Amino acid sequence: MKAHRIKITGAPWFVLLACIASASLQGQQSKPSSAALLQGRQIFSSSCAGCHGLDGRGGERAPDIASKREVQRLSNAELARIVHDGLPGTGMPSFHLLGASRIQALVLYVRSLQGRGEPERLPGNPAAGKGVFFGKAGCGECHMVAGAGGFIGSDLSNYAAAQSAREIRDAILHPESQADPAKKAVVVTTATGEQLTGLVRNEDNFSLQLQTLDGAFHLFAKSDLKSVEHQDQSLMLSDYGSRLSRAELDDVVSYLMRAAQSDLARTRRGRTAKKTQGEEEE
Ligand code: HEC
Ligand code: HEC
Repeated sequence: MKAHRIKITGAPWFVLLACIASASLQGQQSKPSSAALLQGRQIFSSSCAGCHGLDGRGGERAPDIASKREVQRLSNAELARIVHDGLPGTGMPSFHLLGASRIQALVLYVRSLQGRGEPERLPGNPAAGKGVFFGKAGCGECHMVAGAGGFIGSDLSNYAAAQSAREIRDAILHPESQADPAKKAVVVTTATGEQLTGLVRNEDNFSLQLQTLDGAFHLFAKSDLKSVEHQDQSLMLSDYGSRLSRAELDDVVSYLMRAAQSDLARTRRGRTAKKTQGEEEE
């Protein structure tokens, strides 16, 4: 999941993701007969099993991708990207010729090999979690869910789709472990000494675009800036472990899980249109 965690992934990837999301819901509801799952299994046995083994647990030529924790932790988008691009410099070839919709079916099948086809039980109460999210914890000031909330953090509407409850809890408790430098805070000091904190949304040799906590964008010519300091921490506070009780945290996690389920349902209703578009763009 961390899917689509990198902000600009381009339209085809967005569409692919939406398709994967809808496909995994379909997988959950009508499991063995799901057409996508069957298609994924076919592709897996013809394109992947020769190296990774029929059950994905590894062969002589390639590692275990079914029970290996690091692979389970990859978001659907990251998994799709590995299949699409391959891992250059290793024995893992690129399968971009499969096209978006077949890669989507494949990712779904790999998930089922990993045993993630079943919806996870919610650890708490989603309705109470919504209250904490938009109230006491203030998550909604930075993050959007289902169209409501702030802009500086990522949209969390379908964040939980590819994460376990424990992973979501970890992301909330340890934002500092965010590895993506583009998501870490930056402090910009202008020539007049004004300081702004935010995230760099765009940068080239001459200019820098900063988004501040209020969601506003600021464009600077680099020559006008006194300094640009890249912080090692996220803009997100890392003290939720002490500010929220364990039950409140579980409620927020449940709210995000429920939100992702509704998001999948919505995506699924708009599925046919998006899928066609995805195939055109591939
Ligand atoms: C020619 C053999 C070969 C084929 C075919 C192949 N892979 Fe791989 N794959 C590899 C190797 C080798 C690696 C390990 C690369 C490395 O050294 O990190 C790998 C790595 C991966 C990884 C990352 C594993 C990790 O630990 O991060 C994924 C996911 C993956 N393959 C999925 C697939 C899927 C899905 C298919 C079918 C479309 C496929 N592979 C087909 C050889 C193959
Ligand atoms: C001050 C703004 C702010 C607040 C308040 C905030 N976050 Fe964040 N959050 C961020 C930023 C910035 C990131 C890292 C960049 C990103 O993911 O866009 C982040 C990352 C995350 C991630 C990881 C997302 C990913 O894509 O990897 C999760 C999950 C998350 N926040 C949940 C929460 C929850 C739940 C709360 C409330 C308990 C909360 N955040 C409060 C700004 C905030």
